[in-house]
Amino acid sequence: MEAFQYRDGELYCENVSVKRLAEEYGTPLWVYSQAKLLHEFKAIRDAFAEADPVICYSVKANSNLSILELLGQAGSSFDVVSGGELYRVQQAGADPTKVVFAGVGKTDGEIRAALEANILMFNVESEGELDAISAVAAELGCVAPVALRLNPDIDAKTHAKTTTGKRGNKFGMDIERHNELAAKVLADPHLELRGIHMHLGSPILTTDPYEAAAKKARDVVRQLRAEGHETNWINLGGGFGLSYKGDEAPPASTYAEVILPYVREAECRLALEPGRSICGNAGVLLSQVIFTKHEGGKQFVIQDAAMNDLVRPAMYDSFHRIWPVAPRVPAPVDYEAEIAGCQPVDVVGPVCESGDCLAKNRWLPELHRGEYLSTFSAGAYGTVMSSNYNSRPRGAEVLVDGENARLIRRRETYDDLIAAERLA
Ligand code: LLP
Repeated sequence: MEAFQYRDGELYCENVSVKRLAEEYGTPLWVYSQAKLLHEFKAIRDAFAEADPVICYSVKANSNLSILELLGQAGSSFDVVSGGELYRVQQAGADPTKVVFAGVGKTDGEIRAALEANILMFNVESEGELDAISAVAAELGCVAPVALRLNPDIDAKTHAKTTTGKRGNKFGMDIERHNELAAKVLADPHLELRGIHMHLGSPILTTDPYEAAAKKARDVVRQLRAEGHETNWINLGGGFGLSYKGDEAPPASTYAEVILPYVREAECRLALEPGRSICGNAGVLLSQVIFTKHEGGKQFVIQDAAMNDLVRPAMYDSFHRIWPVAPRVPAPVDYEAEIAGCQPVDVVGPVCESGDCLAKNRWLPELHRGEYLSTFSAGAYGTVMSSNYNSRPRGAEVLVDGENARLIRRRETYDDLIAAERLA
């Protein structure tokens, strides 16, 4: 399902003209499609239906309250990595009893809040954390549900900065230690072993790493049971691919095909933590051209969205399609190839760093001051990673549903920039 389509020479989000939104709300502006969010959530749920999975939408991908509320109402649960994300889930009115909580550095305060919220389980990443959870649970007089986050030493063949399941990454505990760790949980009256967790990295465009992980998970569960440990959950994390360029990411059903047989054999409940694949292509970032210039033999398009808004190109050299909202040249199929009627340009923002570049040597039609551009696949790891660098207020966010659009985060003001500061 395509949420954003060109019709009559203009970009639409569902049935709303994106240009109209840019005019009404200004730029930079994040626009999301409700239908696409629900479509992708349901695609995963349906693909894994046989296992009746608990799908814990990964809040870090896009944590806007309205998006959490929408997914919660559609039956999603949530994967959180901080007290702040748990707070958001609660503020969105979602049920915290199906929340899973990962992260290598949970504080006592965060552990306490999670126990008080009665979450489904902690994905525990170190022995020290087991001790800390046990101590807080003892204080509260409860038993804490835990899953062991195991590092399976699988190369997910993704970006070095987002690979998490290789030996030597900071996440989880060595998979070989599962029996010893399970014994530690069993011996502790304030801990209850619910299952095991693995997350390999993000985004993962092939199924092999998932197949290898599911197989290892099945084997670990069997070994734990042979040792007398009740282990009823396998959580395989998130990381499903997203098509940034064309259709390079396989559908959820392709991942399901390799994962489900092992879950069936392990006779376990399945949890998943997809983020990017649900919200990535449900959102775009709209910007407006401020100037164009030709210097040093290069053409630059300077527009009002920058690395403080969408940091992915600067941080990971990520590719995002960019095209005018009302183009004179129809959108191409291949954004990386030479395009007739276009010229190669650098699309840059106003931030004072050469790395503030959303696209390099990208073929684009001639652009003029005031024109609107759309940066696609910006729904995941966009707003959540944005900052106020260069004292730039963050843009607004709008959620489209059919013919309707509503503001789900107002644009920040200069007063917002200094609200937490004090003159000494
Ligand atoms: N579960 C755990 C434990 C994770 O660490 C992550 C992502 C997810 C689930 C969700 O993965 P997803 O389904 O969204 O791929 N900022 C980077 C991505 C960092 C991902 C961190 N962990 C980017 O912009 O590409």
